[in-house]
Amino acid sequence: MKKETSAAVAEIYLVNADTPAELFQKTGSGRPTREELHHAATRLKDEKSHTFFPLPVPHFICFAPTEKNLSLAERLEKIRSTAADVVTVLRTEKCFEAEIIDTTWQNDEEVLAFMEGLYLADYHFDEFKKKKERAFRFSFRSLVVSEAQVARVEALCEEVKRARRLIDLPFSALNAAQLADAARETASKSGIKVEVWSEARLRQSGMGGLLGVNQGSIDKPSFTEMEYKPAKAVNKKPIVLVGKGIVFDAGGMNIKTGSYMDEMKTDMAGAAVVMGVVRAVAALKLPVYVKALMPATDNRLNGNAMVCGDILNMYDGTTVEVVNTDAEGRLILADAVAYGCKTFDPELVVTVATLTGAASRALGSQGIAAMQENADRYTESLLQAGARTHERLCFFPMWKEYEKELASKVADLKNCGSGSAGMITAAKFIKHFAGECPFVHLDVAGVEYLSKRDGYRGPGATAYGLRLLVEFLREYAENGGLEKARSSKK
Ligand code: BES
Ligand code: MG
Ligand code: ZN
Repeated sequence: MKKETSAAVAEIYLVNADTPAELFQKTGSGRPTREELHHAATRLKDEKSHTFFPLPVPHFICFAPTEKNLSLAERLEKIRSTAADVVTVLRTEKCFEAEIIDTTWQNDEEVLAFMEGLYLADYHFDEFKKKKERAFRFSFRSLVVSEAQVARVEALCEEVKRARRLIDLPFSALNAAQLADAARETASKSGIKVEVWSEARLRQSGMGGLLGVNQGSIDKPSFTEMEYKPAKAVNKKPIVLVGKGIVFDAGGMNIKTGSYMDEMKTDMAGAAVVMGVVRAVAALKLPVYVKALMPATDNRLNGNAMVCGDILNMYDGTTVEVVNTDAEGRLILADAVAYGCKTFDPELVVTVATLTGAASRALGSQGIAAMQENADRYTESLLQAGARTHERLCFFPMWKEYEKELASKVADLKNCGSGSAGMITAAKFIKHFAGECPFVHLDVAGVEYLSKRDGYRGPGATAYGLRLLVEFLREYAENGGLEKARSSKK
């Protein structure tokens, strides 16, 4: 094989626009030159956030954002995008090794956001291509950020990339059993317990939603539980995360037409995200007791597929009239949520799912359509974690009038409403199975997959929601869990 000729190690200087002199003193390396800095500062006036010098070794001067009135969250996101731009240039220059030299950025969050942008932009899904992309090697020198902090960012980004790969894998490489295998790979030494249900157990337990959707498939369904329960957890009752694991959504008998089926290998993104959250929480050793539940099947159709009008008997005994077989995600989530709430009495149950076109139409690829009931006390913290990670969410109302849409003449519920406010009626459907348990539903349709690269996101899977939930749990742990946070506020 021809060896790729690559440049030597690139240098990426993180500097403040107003302190070039200081930079020289601190690095003492003689690089970048005064001319380069001058040039960079001029470019900055043109609102470029970084400057790149190609020869003899590529090096970059990246400024912390200088615009006034940026919130910290906006600054962090700008920094991540700058880092992604740098990766794009490095890739064209065929330079796969870079040293990041932070001399004058004083804020550790900003430096870490830069590293995060680099790691996340270094993702490619090329395992089915002859021509492979090369991975980057980043090393790091900083006055404000420790190696341990960078290692934590790297560990989190590894989980994001692992989840992105699972989402990008086609159905031919990831069916329901293989999704369960991906959870099983989580070594017991990481402190995570994994349990995969047998089909017999699914039948015995009466998971009618999951089995109903699976009727049209020649593959078996799977149901996977993951648990991370550290000895010093801040919470006694678990936080239960439920992820939609539709490994391919053909729509069932209400088969998807036109190009609507094109990206439906990504319909297990919710499962990949919750699996990644538990793995990341364990890797970062956060003192939080979390569980992930991942019901999985494809939604194909065959001679035995469920049809409109069929009535399913769900895990909790609710009967559901299927009026559209393409509203399958809520059927499998409902069983998992009912099981989770009954068995574990969770402090909070969070569902993550590519559930509705309505969510995607409402917010495009800019954020998650979120709904909640009995979970007011978590919304502020979720919104803040969303801003900090730029995995944003927008809460839609759960007015009780929406419930009327799900009334059925022949069963306890219908599986979908009239079509308008589709993300809300879907959330209402799942909420029915959570009972009084605090419930947050994240509809990630539209953000989980991008056909074009957008900075450090895409092209392809984004695993949107993973960093959000890890950040939410990190802060939750830092506050000593909900009870402590509440009593200290009193
Ligand atoms: N997996 C789809 C939702 C989806 C759409 C995800 C676009 C990602 C991008 C889901 O199973 C579905 O088919 N939803 C239907 C529900 C409808 C039949 C009530 C929808 O939103 O059209
Ligand atoms: Mg569907
Ligand atoms: Zn679906």
